[in-house]
Amino acid sequence: MKFFIDTASLDQIKEAKDLGILDGVTTNPSLMAKEGISGEANILNHYKQICDIVDGDVSAEVISTDFEGIVEEGKRLAEIAPNIVVKVPMIKDGIKAIRWFTDHDIKTNCTLVFSPGQAILAAKAGATYLSPFIGRVDDINWDGVTLIAEIAEIYAIQGYETEILAASIRSSKHIVESAKAGADVITSPLGPILGLLKHPLTDIGLEKFLADYRKANG
Ligand code: G3P
Repeated sequence: MKFFIDTASLDQIKEAKDLGILDGVTTNPSLMAKEGISGEANILNHYKQICDIVDGDVSAEVISTDFEGIVEEGKRLAEIAPNIVVKVPMIKDGIKAIRWFTDHDIKTNCTLVFSPGQAILAAKAGATYLSPFIGRVDDINWDGVTLIAEIAEIYAIQGYETEILAASIRSSKHIVESAKAGADVITSPLGPILGLLKHPLTDIGLEKFLADYRKANG
């Protein structure tokens, strides 16, 4: 399973890259705004900086909602770097645009996915990645991880090549459960990724090893 970081923070992207486990980056308009990035030139420049840090795929989201607008915006984003993936919302014109990008060898990430039916449509359109938002499904008292499992089952049966990218990850447990449910990729803020490191028995065990070493070695 690939690890993407879900942020537009250059510092956090660098920290995850330094850990040696980073396969890519996802962003969205909310995450860009959180970093104070606004205006098309600044946004394109910020994506360029992210692409200069990571070799893997970097999802850059369109804000247009009509077919022509999505295609024009996506083409501008795709020109930034070869590892840009155009992130397109799960709407009718979005699906049409994903088919257009697929036919023109531009990678896509279909975002705001909340149902298996949406997942089938995105795969039919040839999306490179599919982003089911598991945290937001949990927020309405449904089960986000079950959604990943259902989509994984359908994609396996049908032989769809679209990669399932579990998004809206809120905890380390979400990462582990997404792996079990068949996600090809998780995209997570840095916190839940670093949370995977933690176990009290690791801390206790390490403390004892070091104490025993000090006793034996003075
Ligand atoms: O990858 C999508 C993600 O950024 C949404 O996360 O926590 O806003 O639901 P969240």
